Formats: sequence, C-alpha cells, structure tokens
Amino acid sequence: TSSVGFVGWRGMVGSVLMERMQDEGDFASINPVFFSTSNAGGSAPSFADGAGPLQDAYDVDALAKLPIIVTAQGGDYTKKVHPQLRAAGWDGLWIDAASTLRMNDDSIIVLDPVNRSVIDEGLASGVKDFVGGNCTVSCMLMGLGGLFRNNLVEWGTSMTYQAASGGGARHMRELLTQFGTLNGAVAAELSDPASAILEIDRKVLAAQRGGVDATQFGVPLAGSLIPWIDADLGNGQSKEEWKAGVETNKILGTRSGGSIDPVIMDGLCVRIGAMRSHSQALTLMLREDLSVAEIEKLIDADNEWAHVVPNEKQASMDELTPVAASGTLDIPVGRIRKLEMGPEYISAFTVGDQLLWGAAEPLRRMLKIATG
Ligand code: HSE
Repeated sequence: TSSVGFVGWRGMVGSVLMERMQDEGDFASINPVFFSTSNAGGSAPSFADGAGPLQDAYDVDALAKLPIIVTAQGGDYTKKVHPQLRAAGWDGLWIDAASTLRMNDDSIIVLDPVNRSVIDEGLASGVKDFVGGNCTVSCMLMGLGGLFRNNLVEWGTSMTYQAASGGGARHMRELLTQFGTLNGAVAAELSDPASAILEIDRKVLAAQRGGVDATQFGVPLAGSLIPWIDADLGNGQSKEEWKAGVETNKILGTRSGGSIDPVIMDGLCVRIGAMRSHSQALTLMLREDLSVAEIEKLIDADNEWAHVVPNEKQASMDELTPVAASGTLDIPVGRIRKLEMGPEYISAFTVGDQLLWGAAEPLRRMLKIATG
C-alpha cells in the first residue's frame, strides 16, 4: 500500500474529496498521511483509522518522504512548496487541484474519462505533476466528450453560468446572506398580497445598491450577475475565458495531424447566483453534418456520467439545472439542436457539479490510477 500525503483536505474541495474517497472505500488501499498548514501535531481526521498526528505542510523533509502528495490547499501553497520539493530532489507524484502548474509543459491536466491515454503516456514517460482542470472546462469535456474525442468539433463558444462555489466557501455564504438581506428588505410587503410590486422592486434595488454585504464578490450577486470571472488579462479576455481554449486542447492532447486536431474554444464567463453547479450554453461548429440523433448517441455513449436530456421544455426544466445536477456525478447535456447558421452548427447546454467533476473527482480518480 502506497503512502499518500494529503494537504488542504479540510477546505471545501478537500472535504468533497475526502467524502468521495470514503464513499468509494479508497482509504482501504492507501496509507494516508495528513498535513496541516496551521495545526501540526493535531489529531488526524476520524475517518482515517490509524493515521498519525497531523504533520506540518511546510516541512519539506516530511513531505519528501512520501511517494505521492495530493493537495487542495490552493495556488499559493503550490507556488511556495512545490518548487522547494522538486529542488530537494523529490520525484514523487504531485496531484493538485490548483491551477498553478496546469499549463506547464511537464504537467498533465487530469480528466481520465476524457484523457486516460494522455495520463497513461505521461506516467510511462515520467511525468510527475498531475493537475485538475478548470471546473468549467472539465464539466464541458465530461458532457461533450463524445464530440470532442471523436475530432468532430472545429470550434466552440462556451457562454457560462458559474456558481458561487467557484469563488470559494465564503462566496457561497455571502450569496445566501445577500438573498436574506434582500428578502428582509421587503418581507412585510411580500406577506401582503396587495402590496405594489414596483415598490418591492424599488426597495430590493435600494438594498442591492446600498445594503448588501459584497465583501467577497465585490458587487451584489443575489438578484444580479457578474459578467467577469478571474483576472483581467488586459486584452479584453478574462483568465477564466482564456482557460477554455488552452485547457481544452491540453486535456485532449490535440495537435495538427494527431488523432484530434486543435479546437478553437472561446466565450464569455459569467457568475450567477447558483450554489455549486456550473452551467454553460455552447455553440459548436462541427467538422461534419451529423444528425441530432447521431450527436446524441455519441454523447450518451462516451462515458457513464454524460447523458442526453431530450430537448423538450419539461425535461429541460426538470433535469438540466444546477438544482438537478448538484451533489451528483451526472453531467446532463440538453438543448441539443441544429442552429439556423447551418447544418454543422449546434447548440447544447450542460450542467455539472463544480466541486465533483469540476474539482475533486478527477483528483480522486488520478490517485486511484497512480496507486493501482
Ligand atoms: N475559476 C472557477 C470559478 C473555479 O471561479 O468558477 C475554479 O475552477
């Protein structure tokens, strides 16, 4: 049994990872060692029988004893500790949720239902850094893998509807606090069916503009949206939007003359008031004129989690929402139809739990691959 160091297992992504590992019985086949950035010497979590006390997550010698380290501690930790470990000669496997190392030439973005061959080739050729992808990209490729992996997509736009959890736990709390503040501002009027809706609207707007706590998001999200996610790259594109193109191609291992040609992906990323599932509306230009039935068949057949939702009103309302997808590994894909632009142009809408396929699950599965 492999010894595996865990860092950042108490945060939101780390906690989801720990839950999934318990659900799947993964701890039975490894020897976990838990690290902490703040509580070295404390007790190991109760779900890991027999694990020793917490070790210091900044102790490079302690980390370097382990053949595998899994971190969900965040980008600052990776930036600080990973180079020290490698400089000390550590050649173990680093499995990371943060984006820091993602686009390095010597790292692989892990999403094994989509790129198992890229992962296997990487392991065989001595790659040591395995990084989870951006949540929106991973959820899109899990849903639309049947098209991307069959080299059917020439280009695509992804217009996203991203949940509060992408910002972090405090962002989720802030969204709910904002909803509460807005409700509180008009509670009396809401309980009176005769009250004037325009008066309610005016009070809500006044609260949004003046009264809600927006420390995390910077501006109100409840009852509004934020059409910018992550850094401003200075060229009109947000960093989140840049990731769609570069990460999609890196995950798929696209190259001219290879089995999958490079794909152009771009779009706009928008934060909305959902809790933990990211949604995205896609426009894809396919390399071939396929029937909708053929497209649906490819999507359904690609992996056990993607499934087609019939492009009908009730099914879309019931099955194709953050409320329906959250807390599950399902990736529903719906609203598939040919667009007026021509027979190769299709629309699709997909939803995925940003903490599961978008963050924890690809890491959990990479650890399984690495430990056999
Ligand atoms: N950057 C994503 C978001 C989350 O803010 O929604 C991490 O992939």
